[in-house]
Amino acid sequence: MEQLKRTTHCGALRKQDVGKTVILNGWVHRKRDHGGIAFINLRDRYGITQVVVGEGSPAALSGLTGELRNEYCIAVEGKVRLRPEAMVNPEMPTGEIEVAADKLVILNRSEVLPFPIDEETGAKEELRLKYRYLDLRSGGMQKRIRLRHEVSFAVREWMIRQGFYEIETPSFIRSTPEGARDYLVPSRLYAGKFYALPQSPQLYKQILMVAGFDKYFQIARCYRDEDARGDRQPEFTQIDIEMSFVDREDILTMTEGLLGYVFKQCLNQDLPPHFTRMSYETAQEQYGTDKPDLRFAMPLQDFSPYVGAGGFQAFKDALAKGEADKQAAAAKGITQAGGGVKALVVPGKASYSRKQIEELEAHAQIYQAKGLAWMKVAGTEGGLILEGGVAKFFTAHAQDIIQGLGAKPGDLILIVADSRRKIANIALGAVRSKLGRDLGLLDSGRFAFAWILDFPLFEFNETENHWEAAHHMFSYPQDQYHGILEQDPGSVKGDLYDLVLNGYELASGSIRIHDPDLQKRIFHILGLDPQEAEQKFGFLTEAFKFGAPPHGGIAPGLDRLVMLMAGETSIKEVIPFPKNSFAQSPLDDSPSEVAQKQLDELHLSIVRTPEGQQ
Ligand code: AMO
Ligand code: AMP
Repeated sequence: MEQLKRTTHCGALRKQDVGKTVILNGWVHRKRDHGGIAFINLRDRYGITQVVVGEGSPAALSGLTGELRNEYCIAVEGKVRLRPEAMVNPEMPTGEIEVAADKLVILNRSEVLPFPIDEETGAKEELRLKYRYLDLRSGGMQKRIRLRHEVSFAVREWMIRQGFYEIETPSFIRSTPEGARDYLVPSRLYAGKFYALPQSPQLYKQILMVAGFDKYFQIARCYRDEDARGDRQPEFTQIDIEMSFVDREDILTMTEGLLGYVFKQCLNQDLPPHFTRMSYETAQEQYGTDKPDLRFAMPLQDFSPYVGAGGFQAFKDALAKGEADKQAAAAKGITQAGGGVKALVVPGKASYSRKQIEELEAHAQIYQAKGLAWMKVAGTEGGLILEGGVAKFFTAHAQDIIQGLGAKPGDLILIVADSRRKIANIALGAVRSKLGRDLGLLDSGRFAFAWILDFPLFEFNETENHWEAAHHMFSYPQDQYHGILEQDPGSVKGDLYDLVLNGYELASGSIRIHDPDLQKRIFHILGLDPQEAEQKFGFLTEAFKFGAPPHGGIAPGLDRLVMLMAGETSIKEVIPFPKNSFAQSPLDDSPSEVAQKQLDELHLSIVRTPEGQQ
């Protein structure tokens, strides 16, 4: 077979190339046969060029052209010529020219495709993942993989220019509790022993600080055995960063600089030099989540000042029970928030039907709300009034409420009351998010960043009845709390920060503890006794004994970053070979069984659960 090696690619040719003889290699994207003349859209990574086989082409070519099907891999030699004016396609970069074929070679045939290769295939996910190499040929995937490449490149460029070293850390490490479940790798040489795949390079990057590499980064693969979701995969990539001799401001400013550069380089978007900042508590109170979508406003507001005067018992009961629970917890030394009655003003949606409100209520109930009370604001000759729903309980205070909440005629007011303030916030926050989607307020071309600061250091695990680290156990408690760590863990704020983008947690980090004694106190509060702490983290605490510098860091998720930049809602769209929602890869059919010999070598035997049991 004659090898026609390409002299250019399918996205390159323009008007000024007319007259040149070129060779193109690529895939048949489309073929239109007009009897005697055929148009082939030839595609490669760079674009699409129209090839014409017809008048002027050697007769033998038309037979070969007749054979062509979509996705045949071919080579074409021909002359670049101008398209007739009526056939110029301004949508295509190569739309002014075409290549009149003199030679055509079929490099490889393609079987009938399981789905058409298109910008938007509409194919089922399972099929897309099984034939990922075909899916990756689509315009959309090609664009996103390119964006991912450009983002990684821009990250490296910026970090290295700022004096960071890119340092690799191992993939086989000791299993340490980090939040999610570890993926384990059995050791062949040491029966019964295992490596773990890193959930993140956290401990190693801290050790690199002890080693004196004061500006580290790595585009690092992380592994977590947790249930997959739209923004979660069992293996994913972090832009992992750590710095010594820094405080929180340094890390935040560095991250703003990095992202500003990446967005400018890759999307030509100017980000603000600094991002909005909000405390964890404000985020919970105003948006019912620690990852608020700030592309639209509609904050949650406090309705409790109006409860006492109104006659609605459910609201009063929620506050009364909340107060009683708070007192009872305080007696046990646990700080609790009490009850909450929160309101959301939905501009212009007094027109919502009962059915639409019931749908919102059902959504709130998924998040444990007991109900979703509502009323509407109407303008009358006598002024503004509240009507419908629970309005009758608040008639006497309608003016105060309308004014206090900043509501306007035609607005809908939604209210959730709960004896646990957190539930009221979370449930109404979920309603706010749903409204954001339903009302089309989520413009994927807008990027609303926010720093969430001052997270609690500890969270109380009510089922297991002990304190847990809210982030990880190496985060630094803010100085002013060092005196009361043991007495009141619930009130301790950490030097931790999340970066939120359009309702997603994009990055997370903290200033770390570098004082071995302080670290011991934290282990103790978390219920790790000294031997256990020594056994699990001994190598880190040992390192800290040798002049560990103050340090801190952050890790933006690369997959989430590229997903948001691409305007997508699933990270699978920006990962070349992702797992499906069941942590399987339909492409290579993993996980798979292995040979008995392999198991024997690894000193493993499989315990099979009887059919039907988990
Ligand atoms: P954290 O666990 O918050 O912090 O992870 C940091 C960022 O990584 C991304 N991410 C994920 N992306 C896809 N799939 C997942 N399963 C997944 N899990 C996390 C998110 C998240 O914000 N070592 C610390 C960072 C530090 O303190 O420096 C850490 O791993 O974008
Ligand atoms: P009920 O008095 O139970 O008939 O409820 C009247 C309305 O108040 C319904 O729309 C309920 O959804 C709502 N409601 C009941 N309890 C709560 C609550 N805790 N928070 C918000 N709305 C509630």
